[in-house]
Amino acid sequence: MHVRTPKEPGTATILRNELATSRKAAGYVRHVEIDLTGSGLEGQFLPGQAIGVIAEGVDEAGKPHKVRLYSICSPARGEDGKGVVVATTVKRLIDEHWESHKLFVGVSSNYLCDRRPGDKVLVSGPAGKRFVLPVDKSAHDYVFFATGTGIAPFRGFIMDLLENNCTSQVFLIMGSPYSTDLLYHADLLRLQEQHKNFQYITAISREKQADGHDPLYIQDRIRTERERLLPALISPRTLIYVCGVAGMELGIFQQLALHLTGNDLRQYLDVDPEALAAIRQWTRPMIHKQVRPTRRVFLEVYA
Ligand code: A2P
Repeated sequence: MHVRTPKEPGTATILRNELATSRKAAGYVRHVEIDLTGSGLEGQFLPGQAIGVIAEGVDEAGKPHKVRLYSICSPARGEDGKGVVVATTVKRLIDEHWESHKLFVGVSSNYLCDRRPGDKVLVSGPAGKRFVLPVDKSAHDYVFFATGTGIAPFRGFIMDLLENNCTSQVFLIMGSPYSTDLLYHADLLRLQEQHKNFQYITAISREKQADGHDPLYIQDRIRTERERLLPALISPRTLIYVCGVAGMELGIFQQLALHLTGNDLRQYLDVDPEALAAIRQWTRPMIHKQVRPTRRVFLEVYA
C-alpha cells in the first residue's frame, strides 16, 4: 500500500475516458482508464483497492486540492493485461446547495471526468487492504451486492474470477434507479452468457423490473430470488461483499436475518438475542454493536 503518497504523487496519463452507462442515463458515469507508465505505480493495484487522484488548482482557501480516492474497477491484470493501465468508474457529482440553491459541482469527480486521452494526472496509492478477493479464490463462492458506482470493485473481481477459469459460484446483485443507469450492463450480460457459474441479477429502484416485479432494492432480491440465492447463502464457502451507498448494508443484513437461521445466519452476522427478536426494527447505528458482521462479510459503503 501507499507506494506513492499524496505528498509525493506519481504522474500518470489518461488513456481512455468513455460513458459507462447507456446514452439515456440520468446521471453521468464514466469509465476512465489511466496509464500508470512512469508513475511508479505500475502493477501495484488489485481490484477493490483505490487510486488517489489530486485535481489541479486550488480550493476556495487557496490551498491545493486534497486527494480523492477512486475504486479500481480493473482486474489484477489491468485493462492492458500487464497491470500498467487501470480503470475507475467515476460519477460526476452535480447537486444543488441545500441553503443557497446554487449549483454545486464536485471538484475532483468532474476534474477526472473532464480529462481527455493524453492528459496528465497526479496519482497516489494503492489504498485499501481488506476489500479484495481472498488469495485462494477457488476456496469460496461469492455474493456481491452493488449500488451505482459500487459496481467498480466487482467488475474487477468478476473478471479476475471468470477469466482464470475459477469454478466458484459468483452472484452479482446490482442496484440502480433506472435500467438506463446500469453500469457495464452489456459486458455483464455477456459474461453471464459465457460463464454458467456467474449470475447477474439487477434491482431497479424507480421502475418495474424486466421480470415484472415492482420497483425494488437489492436486498429485496434475497426474497424474490430466494430459490437460487439460498443454496449459495447457506453454503459455508460463501463470502458476501457489499459496495455502494451508505445504508444499503442495513437492508441486506435484515433480509439475511429474515431468510437464514442458526449457523447459516451466524456465519455472516453475530446478532444479540433481543435484536434477533425484532429484525424489522433494526437501525443503522446497531450495525457493529447489536448486529455484528463476521469476517465473511466485506463492506465498503460511502455517503
Ligand atoms: P433510490 O435512489 O431510488 O432510492 P446511484 O448511486 O446511481 O444513485 O444508485 C444507487 C441505487 O441504490 C439507487 O437505485 C438507490 O435507490 C439505491 N439505494 C438508495 N438507498 C438504498 C438503501 N438504503 N438500500 C439499498 N439501495 C438503496
